[in-house]
Amino acid sequence: MIYDNILVKDLSDEIRYITINRPKQLNALNKQTIEELHDALDKAEKDEKIRVVIITGSGQKAFVAGADIKEFMHFTPEEGQALSETGHRLLFDFVEQMQTPVIAAINGYALGGGLELALSSHIRLASENARMGLPEVSLGVIPGYGGTQRLAQHIGKGRALEMIITARQIDAQTAYDYGLVSEVVPQEKLLDRAVEYAQMILRNSPQAIGLAIAAVNAAYSREGFRTENELFGRAFATEDFKEGTTAFVERRKPDFGKKG
Ligand code: CAA
Repeated sequence: MIYDNILVKDLSDEIRYITINRPKQLNALNKQTIEELHDALDKAEKDEKIRVVIITGSGQKAFVAGADIKEFMHFTPEEGQALSETGHRLLFDFVEQMQTPVIAAINGYALGGGLELALSSHIRLASENARMGLPEVSLGVIPGYGGTQRLAQHIGKGRALEMIITARQIDAQTAYDYGLVSEVVPQEKLLDRAVEYAQMILRNSPQAIGLAIAAVNAAYSREGFRTENELFGRAFATEDFKEGTTAFVERRKPDFGKKG
């Protein structure tokens, strides 16, 4: 399988390794990368031999630094809402609902859509240099790839809301303390540790694992995700969105307006 923005490699007959490979953009998720990830994950899910997928980012700096801001900064509210809906369908909900477990090996920045991809995965491991956050409100938008829902599911509403509205980044140890990642390991050991988790999974029944994932997912309502789609789109109509994304590109602090 040859793609432009991801690398796919089988570590064994049963373990597939997918690397998001846009290191110059800190592996930011543009439309094409999301489509390629969907295709690769769909193939893994349909491949009877593949029992575990490990996802990571290329380079030593970033897992994924978010959705590609430069791609969506001129979108209309309708295009913004569609971006969120398509992302959920092709990647974030898709990963969460896969019967083949996905391990996110968070090897650096996991911000915005990057953290949202990790939150959709079934297991999260972080390297010591990893930093996580949902910085969207600093751009005048909200998390639109499930972050408003899944961060609260993982770490509780209070801490999730605090992280979302402060837009702050947390380090790997704090993420561990919050229950956001299962383990923190030195960066050079991250892949080996992910493979050890994969091997634990391989001892178990694939059918039972698929049923267990479906049962755990069944606990959570879809209503919040629909609201997130809509409100993500609504943010694209605001002056703050234009200011926040422009300030990012111009490498300056945004000058936001008044409330509501
Ligand atoms: N989108 C597009 N480009 C990005 C990007 C992103 N999310 N994150 C980084 N890049 C680009 C930078 O623009 C820069 O490109 P140029 O060299 O062409 O200028 C390159 O990657 C390297 O980044 P920096 O020079 O900024 O690296 P740094 O070490 O100074 O900072 C960082 C690292 C703190 C991660 C910083 O890049 C950053 O804040 N990135 C944006 C993080 C963010 O806001 N993510 C949320 C995106 S919105 C989202 O995800 C919406 C959603 O839920 C659907």
